[in-house]
Amino acid sequence: MFRSNSGESTNVVGKTMKRVDAFEKVNGSARFAADIAFDGQIYCALVIAEKPHGILRSIDTVLASEIEGVEGIFTWRDIPGENQLGEAIKDMPCLVKEGEKIRFWGDVVAIVAARDRISAENAAKSVRLDIEDLEPVLSIEQAMEDKVQIHEGSNVRVSKRIRKGDAETVIKNSKEVFEGEFYAHYQEQAYMEPQGVTVVPDFDYGYTVYGTMQCPYYVQSAVAHVLGLPINRIRVIQTETGGAFGGKEDIPSYVASYAAVVAFNLKRPARLIYSREIDIQTTSKRHPIKSFYRIAMEGKKIKAIEIKAYMDMGAYATLTPIVMFRTLVHAAGAYDIENVNVDVYGIYTNKVPPGAFRGFGSPQVLFAVESMIDDIACKLGIDPMELREENTLRPGSRTSTNHLIVESVGAPETLARVKESSHWKDLVRECNEFNRINKDKKRGAGLSHIFYGVSLGAGGQALDKSGAHVLINRDGSVEVRIGGTEMGQGAKTVIAMIAAEELGQRIEKILVHQPDTAFVPDSGPTVASRTTIYSGNAVRQACMALRGKLVSVFCDLFNSNPDSVKFCQGEVSDGEDRTISFDRLVDTAYVRNVKLFEAGWYDTPKLSFDMENGLGEAYVTYSYASQVVQVEVDMATGSTKVLKGFTAHDVGKAVNPDGVIGQIQGGFVQGMGYALYEDLKLRNGKIVSDNFNTYIIPTIHEVPPELVIDIVEDPFREGPYGAKGIGEPSLMPVPASVANAVSMAIGKRVRQIPVTPEYVLGLIEEKTD
Ligand code: MOS
Repeated sequence: MFRSNSGESTNVVGKTMKRVDAFEKVNGSARFAADIAFDGQIYCALVIAEKPHGILRSIDTVLASEIEGVEGIFTWRDIPGENQLGEAIKDMPCLVKEGEKIRFWGDVVAIVAARDRISAENAAKSVRLDIEDLEPVLSIEQAMEDKVQIHEGSNVRVSKRIRKGDAETVIKNSKEVFEGEFYAHYQEQAYMEPQGVTVVPDFDYGYTVYGTMQCPYYVQSAVAHVLGLPINRIRVIQTETGGAFGGKEDIPSYVASYAAVVAFNLKRPARLIYSREIDIQTTSKRHPIKSFYRIAMEGKKIKAIEIKAYMDMGAYATLTPIVMFRTLVHAAGAYDIENVNVDVYGIYTNKVPPGAFRGFGSPQVLFAVESMIDDIACKLGIDPMELREENTLRPGSRTSTNHLIVESVGAPETLARVKESSHWKDLVRECNEFNRINKDKKRGAGLSHIFYGVSLGAGGQALDKSGAHVLINRDGSVEVRIGGTEMGQGAKTVIAMIAAEELGQRIEKILVHQPDTAFVPDSGPTVASRTTIYSGNAVRQACMALRGKLVSVFCDLFNSNPDSVKFCQGEVSDGEDRTISFDRLVDTAYVRNVKLFEAGWYDTPKLSFDMENGLGEAYVTYSYASQVVQVEVDMATGSTKVLKGFTAHDVGKAVNPDGVIGQIQGGFVQGMGYALYEDLKLRNGKIVSDNFNTYIIPTIHEVPPELVIDIVEDPFREGPYGAKGIGEPSLMPVPASVANAVSMAIGKRVRQIPVTPEYVLGLIEEKTD
C-alpha cells in the first residue's frame, strides 16, 4: 500500500543515536510516580494479612482510626464494583472479606488513607485482624499431596502439554537415556522504582490513574471493574517508569484498584506508593520451577525428550496460565527433536503469587535443558559446542511444537559467532590448564543456546495488536502516541527513530508522548519483547500514510514525479534542484487544509495451534542466542566470579544498535544475578529477604571485565526493517551458561539456581555426582 522511505538503505534506523529520554533522566527532571502531586491528595497504605493461611474472622479498625491524620479505612464493603482481581482465573479478591480465606502473607484486607504517608503506614499496622490459622502449604511437594487445599479442588490447578511424535516409546527402546532433575528458585524483578500510582477524580466525571506500569489497558479495565464503571470513565496515563522487567505487567492493576477504592470513597486524589518491603512481600516474582528431564540419544542426535515441570504459582493463579505457555514451548530448548513430551503444571501454595519476569517462565527450563545437553556431552565425550551444532534449529527445522520454521532462523549463526569470539576450544583448554596447576581456585567454561518465541503467541492472540497515532503540527514538529510503554528499555528511542526514518523529519523534532489511554486504543500489553514489532509497525504505517500526503503537496508545488521525491533529515527534494525543508512543506500543507494526522494499526497473521496436544505455530517468529562464559570458583568459600562473557543474539535487525547492546548488557547482569546471587528467603510463607540488604543483586563490581556482544541480523519479514525482539532473550541464556561453567570448574553437575556458595560447597563435598 505505502512504500517505506528507506528502500535499500536507511538514514536513521541502524545508526548510532542518543536516547531521546536521556537528558531528562540524567538531570532529574523526568517525573516518576512519586514525583507528581495533586491538590488535596491523600496517602494510602495497605493492611496485609501477615499469616500464610487462615480464615479472616474479623477486622478491627477502632484503634487505627483514632490515629492522628487518618481519614478513612476501607474494606471490601467500600468497593462499588466487583471485589475481584486477576487476569486468567477469577480466584483472587481485591480485598479479603470476613469469613473468607487468607491465602498468603501479603493478602490485602484493607486500605488506610491518611494526611501523610507515615500516619497511613502506622495506622495500617494498628488494624487488628483476627485470623483463624489453617495449616500452610509451603512447598510444591506438599501442595501436590492435596491434604490441605488452598482453593476449592486440587492444588494442581492448571496444566498444559505437548505430544509430538512418540517420546515414550523411543525412550523405552533407546540404549542411551539420560535423566536429570533441576530446580530454579524465585527471582525478584528488583526494579529501582517501587510500585506506585495516584488515582484522581477528574473533570470528565471519572478517574484518571497516573502511575508506574507496563500495561495501561490492563490497569484501565481492572479499575473500571472494581469501581463498577464503564471503561470510558477511566483514563490511564503512564508516568516515567523506573524499571519493570515483567513486575509491572499485572501488579499495577492491583495497586491502582486499591487506590481507586479510596479515591472513589473520599472523592480526593489517592496516592499509593509501595515501600520496598511491601513491594517485595506482596508482588510477583519469577516462578520457582522443579523439572524432570529424560533424553534419548542416538549417536550425536537427540531422538526424544520427556519433560515434567512443576511451577509454584503461589496463592492465586494471576498470570501463571499465560506464563506456563512459554514454559511449555521453551522447555525442550532450541533444538530440532522428533519426539517431544512436555507436561507443565501450575500448583497453588500459600506463598506470594509469581508472575511475569523477563523470559516469562522460560529461563528456568532453559537452565534445565541446557544443563542436560551439557551433561550428555560430558558423559558421551562430545564437545558441547558440537552437540549443539548437530541438533540446533535451522531453516527448515521443526520446533518442539512442530512449527516449521523457514525464515529468520539465526540460531546456527549465533553458535558460530560465540565459538569464534570466545575461541571456544582454546578457552576450554585454558581452563583445564589452570585447573591442573591450581587447587584453591578452579575455572570453567560454559555454553548455552536458546530460542525465544516473540510476542504473545498462540496463547494470547487476542491481545496481539497495537495502535499508534501520529500528528504533524504546523511548525513541522511531530507528536507520536503509542500504546506501548517506555520502562527503561528504550522503546521511545526506537519509535522516534522509526518515525524519523519514515517521515524524513529530524529526530529532534519528534516527540513520543507518555502513553495515555485517551488517545490510543487498547494496544495489548507491553510485554513479550513485542514493542518494536507491534508499536513500531503501527507507527511506521501511520508515518508512511502521512508522507504520502506530503509527497502530493510537494509534487503539486514543483510538478515533480512522485517516485523521485526523497525525505531525509528534515529536507525534501526530488533529486533535481527542487528542495524544500520538511517544515516549510508542512506549512504549505496546512494552509491547503491537508489532514496531517493518522492512526496506525498492526496485528499479526493468525497462528494455527492445537492447544490440546500443544502442536502448531506457537509464536509469530523466534529470536535466538548463544553464549559462552568463563567463571572462577573459590574452592574454599564456594563463591563464583564471572570472568568473561561472549554472547551472540539474532535480533532480526537492530533498529537502535546501542539500545540492543544496552538490553544485552542489562539482561546479562540480571541473568547473572539469577544464576549466582539472588536468593529469596522465606520463613513460614513470609519473605524475610525483603530489601536490598538481604536480597543481593549484582552491582557494577560483578560485571565481568570482558563482555563481548555480537548481533546477528537474520531479518523477519513482518518486523519493521526485519526486527524481532531482544528484551527478554538478553537474560535467558545466562543462568544456563553460568551453571554449566560452574559444573565444569568443580567437576560436579549444578542442578539448581541460584548457585550460592553454600550450594557449591555442598556439591564439592559430595562423594559422587
Ligand atoms: Mo514480560 S516478562 O513479558 O512483562
